Amino acid sequence: MEKLVIEGGKPLEGEVEIAGSKNAVLPIMAATLLTDAPCTIRRVPKLRDVMTMIKLLRSLGKKVEMTGSTVVVESRGPLHHIADYKLVSTMRGSFCVLGPLLAKLGKANVSLPGGCIIGVRPVDLHLKGLGALGAKFEIENGYVVSQAKRLKGTSVYLGGIFGSSVLATANVLMAATLAQGTTIIESAACEPEIENLCHFLKAMGAKIEGTGSYRLIVTGVKKLKGVSFDVIPDRIEAGTYILLAAATHGNVRVKGADYAHLWALIDKLKQAGVDVIQEKNAIRVKVKKTLTPVGITTHPYPGFPTDLQAQFMALMAVTPGVSVITERVYPDRFIHVAELNRMGADIQREGTSAIVQGVKMLHGAPVMASDLRASAGLVIAGLAAKGRTEIHRMYHLERGYENLDQKLLALGARISRERE
Ligand code: EPU
Repeated sequence: MEKLVIEGGKPLEGEVEIAGSKNAVLPIMAATLLTDAPCTIRRVPKLRDVMTMIKLLRSLGKKVEMTGSTVVVESRGPLHHIADYKLVSTMRGSFCVLGPLLAKLGKANVSLPGGCIIGVRPVDLHLKGLGALGAKFEIENGYVVSQAKRLKGTSVYLGGIFGSSVLATANVLMAATLAQGTTIIESAACEPEIENLCHFLKAMGAKIEGTGSYRLIVTGVKKLKGVSFDVIPDRIEAGTYILLAAATHGNVRVKGADYAHLWALIDKLKQAGVDVIQEKNAIRVKVKKTLTPVGITTHPYPGFPTDLQAQFMALMAVTPGVSVITERVYPDRFIHVAELNRMGADIQREGTSAIVQGVKMLHGAPVMASDLRASAGLVIAGLAAKGRTEIHRMYHLERGYENLDQKLLALGARISRERE
């Protein structure tokens, strides 16, 4: 195991290039199960989660090759219908093979992913949506055992108590592309990753209206074809570098970041006094003055993303004054609070909110990475802090940040990997 060692207190400067989106590419890779024809996916980030999806697709019978940032998925005979616990339990994104397998094979046994450090994370909305299309489910030995003779289009409402669900929308959408008749998904997730999936499916020949909206209308087709496709840039990676630049009072050009995907973050940063400038194919971030604390509440897109909550909290932890951070997507996603407090932050959790009393300076400390985004928050805190921070269990970061240490080194960070 490796740890990340940071000597903080230095403003980040220079340019960083954003990779393709993890949360867009995972369902897109699952969608290749819908066709026997070859699919080429470009701008695929080299991440632990992508490697897991490659292993899963291979275990389901596909031939998958990754060269640089291009992934080619081809058929090598009939598909298998069992998605193994070992692969699904390490990454919830794997659960979105359920819809495509059901649509293509009429059966699928997919391991239940279980909860994780950020919350309980049930799959009721996935099963509700696919059930409305005619699939039957049993839970056997920790697996969802499902069957459907031929999926049939219908109208289904996918809103849950915490709003729409990204991967449930992906699962139902993918299944509906090969169902008989028309499916209307009400309260569909509007995240750019779902929009990107719609574009991928349309390029495969799927008939989808309402792309990017909360109502998706899908008219089933008999067969989908192969496709060659570019994944969108990762808005969460981009947002993380934007916050890194802000927290270290740096000057960074975030190349490839899509400004339109980051409004909720940019609006808050501007309120706080950060200069966020839209450039051609990039976002420039500069801090010239003392920042003002601002609060955020996370919501499904286009609201403030839960996947940037921990990183934003790290910024507020070093912004003197009080801010309130409220989590409306995963009410328990506050594991980073205790670790940030070990670095001298003053944050108190109150139910689904955290009250941040920003301090002038954090100090380096040994801390524990727990989940991907909480760990990104610790990296921001470590780079802003005075002294040495050690982030243990850095493999969490490798799930979602391509070449993190290399990219940070290029921005002038004092950072290295060491064996535990
Ligand atoms: N929910 C239900 N029932 C369901 C599904 C979800 O109640 O059947 C609840 C969840 O427990 C949560 C809320 O609905 O409270 C939203 O969860 P959602 O289903 O949208 O999350 P997801 O699709 O499982 C994706 C991302 C997450 C990201 C969320 C929210 C992928 C692979 N994962 O998860 O990304 O936080 O959407 O935007 O796309 C990350 O990248 O670090 C990450 C956790």
